Amino acid sequence: MAASPFRLGWFGNLTTPEWRTGWSNDALSWTDARYYVDMVRDMERAGFDFMMLEDSLMVSDIYAGTAELELKHAMYAPKLDPVPVISMLAYATEHIGIVGTASTTFYPPYLLARTFSTLDHVTRGRVGWNIVTSSEDRAAQNFGMDKLPEHDLRYEIAEEFVEVVTALWDSWAPDAVVADPISGYYADHTKVAPIHHEGKHFSVRGPLNTPRSPQGRPVICQAGASPRGRDFAAKNADMLLCIPNGLDGMKEYRDDIRARAAAHGRDPDDIKVFFVVAPIIGRTMEEAQAKEAAFRADKQRNFEKQMVHFGAIMEIDFSVLDPDLPIPDDVTTNGHQGTFEGWKQAFGGRTIKDAASDMRVASMPLVGTPDHIADEMDKAMEHVGGDGFMFLAQPTSREYIREITEGLCPALRRRGLIRTGFAHEHFRDNMRSFD
Ligand SMILES: Cc1cc2nc3c(=O)[nH]c(=O)nc-3n(C[C@H](O)[C@H](O)[C@H](O)COP(=O)(O)O)c2cc1C
Repeated sequence: MAASPFRLGWFGNLTTPEWRTGWSNDALSWTDARYYVDMVRDMERAGFDFMMLEDSLMVSDIYAGTAELELKHAMYAPKLDPVPVISMLAYATEHIGIVGTASTTFYPPYLLARTFSTLDHVTRGRVGWNIVTSSEDRAAQNFGMDKLPEHDLRYEIAEEFVEVVTALWDSWAPDAVVADPISGYYADHTKVAPIHHEGKHFSVRGPLNTPRSPQGRPVICQAGASPRGRDFAAKNADMLLCIPNGLDGMKEYRDDIRARAAAHGRDPDDIKVFFVVAPIIGRTMEEAQAKEAAFRADKQRNFEKQMVHFGAIMEIDFSVLDPDLPIPDDVTTNGHQGTFEGWKQAFGGRTIKDAASDMRVASMPLVGTPDHIADEMDKAMEHVGGDGFMFLAQPTSREYIREITEGLCPALRRRGLIRTGFAHEHFRDNMRSFD
């Protein structure tokens, strides 16, 4: 093994895969989720630690007050609910972790605790929960609210939410189920206790009606980027997803999270940080560079997609801003605050039109052959200190997945940089032990 192997994850969005090239059978049939089953099997075989399924709960019509571009590019909608799909992906695999996104702003805690306990059972201890507080008023309006609670208040609510669901997961002691034919007791009622939670935001009696799950609680995933979000993540999460800018930004983020975790009395090694990358892969350097140039040349499409993206997760209507100027300093968001600040930095002094027309969401550029990219990833991890990368396809296609799983992953394996098997039964144990 090389000095510092790292972990791999995939950012899965249950939206339509690339459909415009003609090289796809999946433009309409992706909704039966077999596309994602094939995908997760490829990933497990190639050495991935997890597949994460993102989520949002709206059709965005923020940009210019219409859903035209959102639906034209099939960005945030149409989309499937990740939670039921997790079961299907787990049934098709043996070891890989599967992380589903669910919002503390919209789920009731009892329902969330029960759903993820059930998923931990049916996946045999391989599920993770990506805790999000959501960032769209459009989603709030689907749940009887006019708008979302303010950014930091959402995290305050999420803190209490995590307290409640953790108590519910613990409401069955590890030895509560005895299944003893001699005494005639299936479960010992003295080991299943109500939680009687009466808090500022939630009131939940408990206990859960689901027995304690294999991992006790799912792997907790989070993607806080603002100071408040980072603190929440450092206190509660087993794994983090992030997109800081460049190698120094990546190192700063990881060091900061580890310091915050230590301040919460945790072992920083119990938290694994995953940096978003979106490699452009070719059989030769020239082929990869030509692909990148083709991506950048598709300016109008890239611009439209980024406008939808910004509108959806920042809820800022960029159509009212002058595209030939940089983002004005006084524009703020109640959505993804940390991400917005990162983008403003990455834009530098460029105009909105210019920067959005060739923007690729990633912490570092990766363009080249599998061997070249594997070397770059190795060097990046050396600089940053660990723990792993998460691929965010832009867009997803069977072709692209193959380039990663059959091209890049073997190059990483030849260097001893990624896993070749799974030593443990449960997701958390596999993720922690692979150092
Ligand atoms: C890689 C990544 C994946 C994310 N996935 C989701 C998601 O599926 N659903 C969602 O509502 N928010 C998602 N977020 C947003 C985060 O939960 C968080 O709101 C965002 O990073 C901004 O951080 P802040 O809330 O601390 O400002 C994601 C963020 C990142 C960086």
